[in-house]
Amino acid sequence: MWRILQVGLGPLGRQVAGELCARRLGRLVGAVDPHPELVGKPLSELVPGAPEGLRVAAGLEALPDAEVALVTTSSWLSDCMPIFDPLLGRGLAVVSSCEELCWPWLRQAPLAEALAERARARGGRLLGTGVNPGFLMDALPLVATAVVRELRSLRVERVQDAACRRLPFQQKVGLGLSLEDFAERAAGGRFGHAGLEESIAFLANSLGLEVGPIESSMEPVLAERPTPSGLGSIAPGRVRGLRQRAFARTEDGRSLELRFEALAGCEAPRDGVHITGEPEIRLEIPGGVHGDVATSAILLNAIPSLLAAPPGLHTMASVPPVRWQRGAP
Ligand SMILES: NC(=O)c1ccc[n+]([C@@H]2O[C@H](COP(=O)([O-])OP(=O)(O)OC[C@H]3O[C@@H](n4cnc5c(N)ncnc54)[C@H](OP(=O)(O)O)[C@@H]3O)[C@@H](O)[C@H]2O)c1
Repeated sequence: MWRILQVGLGPLGRQVAGELCARRLGRLVGAVDPHPELVGKPLSELVPGAPEGLRVAAGLEALPDAEVALVTTSSWLSDCMPIFDPLLGRGLAVVSSCEELCWPWLRQAPLAEALAERARARGGRLLGTGVNPGFLMDALPLVATAVVRELRSLRVERVQDAACRRLPFQQKVGLGLSLEDFAERAAGGRFGHAGLEESIAFLANSLGLEVGPIESSMEPVLAERPTPSGLGSIAPGRVRGLRQRAFARTEDGRSLELRFEALAGCEAPRDGVHITGEPEIRLEIPGGVHGDVATSAILLNAIPSLLAAPPGLHTMASVPPVRWQRGAP
């Protein structure tokens, strides 16, 4: 069994670590989170099924040897560098939910190059994945193009019920904010769904399409009636979620478009991929894919694919296809 480290014990990290133990996909041998309320706590108090005797460490230095690390700390590559760099230096395979890591060359090319070099030099491997970015707007539509001989446009639509997601997600899509606060947060950055542009860049590069600048937009959606959410009831006139869009086109008119909606009180959650060209392809997932369940699953299911790839910095297009893993009996 692989020895696995969990780095970051927010809601996602705890879910991943718990699922790792429940599915017996490896042996959890250590966990880190510097949050003052977590350091030193028995891990089994935070993660059901975690081995007795493990305590939350404040930093990576105190962790035992391992083959794999799961990193669920931040959406931003610059925040994750002090974690990725030493883990790759130890030759680990690192799977992370960091959104920018799904296509790090878009905004962080120098950091991406540094990580790639570090990984190759020390036999480490690094992959950014998750439900989105990682799968629904990247790996899934890319695979769908396999049966297409002419691609004119590729559109992915994701409409989800924000109220059933973990609380940090509900906060980052603005549930309960006033319009003014939403505008202020949106202008400040690090708000809303991260990774839409990375998904466009992943698709364009993986399909060999040279696209022009990526256009993106974000707008709030207001509640018309009291709407339940994990952050309390949302009063009419306050934000019940958001709509985001990213779009890019090639000089010869091929287009990539991603539409993302996360709403409390969402009536028809769904995921869909629509490719025009020949043949036309429509994939529909009625009800949509639950983002937190899927992210935890894919981070774990990706481990064997990453270990099977050569050392270096990877994407969902450079590792062997990720598929369900059964785990030890
Ligand atoms: N790609 C995808 O599809 C996908 C899906 C779901 C989530 N995500 C991303 O995954 C990340 C985790 O989600 P979450 O809801 O669990 O976020 P969260 O609530 O922000 O949890 C992150 C945890 O990591 C801790 N942390 C920060 N720096 C650390 C470090 N250097 N070492 C160890 N732990 C550290 C944080 O501690 P403090 O509180 O002290 O900072 C916090 O407890 C987020 O960035 C989220 O956007 C991606």
